[in-house]
Amino acid sequence: MSLSLAAEQPEPPVDAEDGAWLECIECGETFAPFADIRYTCDECDGLLEVRYTDLPSLDEFEGQGVWRYADALPLESGVTTQEGATPLYEVPRLQDDVGVEALRIKHEGMNPTGSFKDRGMTVGVAVAKELGVDRLACASTGNTSAALAAYGSRGGMETLVLLPAGKVAAGKIAQASLHGARILEVDGNFDSCLDIVQELAARGEAYLLNSLNPFRLEGQKTIGLEILEAFRDDYGAFPDRIVLPVGNAGNTSALYKAFRELVQVGDLPLEDVPKLTGVQAEGAAPMVEAIENDADEVRRWDDVETRATAIRIGNPVNAPKALPGIRETDGTAVAVSDDEITDAQRDLAAEGIGVEPASAASVAGLRKLRAEGVVTDDERVACLTTGHLLKDPDAAAAAGSEPQPVPNDTEGVLEHLRE
Ligand code: F0G
Repeated sequence: MSLSLAAEQPEPPVDAEDGAWLECIECGETFAPFADIRYTCDECDGLLEVRYTDLPSLDEFEGQGVWRYADALPLESGVTTQEGATPLYEVPRLQDDVGVEALRIKHEGMNPTGSFKDRGMTVGVAVAKELGVDRLACASTGNTSAALAAYGSRGGMETLVLLPAGKVAAGKIAQASLHGARILEVDGNFDSCLDIVQELAARGEAYLLNSLNPFRLEGQKTIGLEILEAFRDDYGAFPDRIVLPVGNAGNTSALYKAFRELVQVGDLPLEDVPKLTGVQAEGAAPMVEAIENDADEVRRWDDVETRATAIRIGNPVNAPKALPGIRETDGTAVAVSDDEITDAQRDLAAEGIGVEPASAASVAGLRKLRAEGVVTDDERVACLTTGHLLKDPDAAAAAGSEPQPVPNDTEGVLEHLRE
């Protein structure tokens, strides 16, 4: 078994429910979607994906936001605060400066809790309700915990979040806290938090809502559907490339799945599939290492560090789904320095778009690949910016200008301005 754009529409197994089931990406074992709680394959521990009997065509979707795509999701409706339908900004100056035919910024920071995680949670928390669980949990570099806390409380469930102590941006902790999550600060990095929470989930202590959860990635698939629809409307063609920051590679996997499903229904010709291009920070770049070395597996990095704390991750758990996505779409992965990330954050801010550091990695990566000639000047590109500027106010203030003290009178202010 391996994931492929050319895969045929699968035959539904006997235990499919409402035309959906779970399938192991390694051994092909199938499971009823809502009968039991499982996150990986019972047989081989491989990652699971949701499969459908009938996949809809792009022309069949109606409505707005994530639930516009309900026919491509495992449920009809979710626990919602109107997530999705995020802006796809034009950035003419940045586009000229980078030197591509078209550059658009898909700003996922404009979701209700300020990151793309809301798209996954609206589906994942609804599945948790369907399964009848009462406690939800995640490990997080911050954004997942904010979204889980908000959607969990909206769904009337208890939430537990494990965070790496001292490495989560202020806005994210504030969100998790006010939305009522029980916050556990672990003396370790994100990857050890995920190890622990997976153990807790395996022991039945809580329902796991990290991106290992295949239902969450279904919600995140809608980012790709929105980008493809918008490019088709605006340019009469799908984007040549989608550039995105990579941590656990959940979004990379989700976008690849969106493409595979559109290829299957005949809406996306193989030659038009956008090149998936992942960007990591130099201090946390195990996916980039695997792509550069043409490796089948990603080596876990135990020591990771970057200013972009959201992607300070050394063990991208969705790599088995994401590596084939990058390779098969003829994409690539690139690492950027923290200073390149901050410069890109300023570039976006100069276009009026406020993003947190991890988000700016996409633009920094595009700039680097354009300079190297990997990206060519005739490409139409979408960059994903995954989280809002206010998530990490300290990073924003450090990248921006200093406030200037002035006297409490107009003359004094004028004098200061003339200096
Ligand atoms: N950008 C931001 C702002 C994120 O918060 C994350 C992941 C990513 C990119 C990476 O996305 O995992 O799909 O490759 N944040 C997780 C969290 C780990 O806990 O909030 P990915």
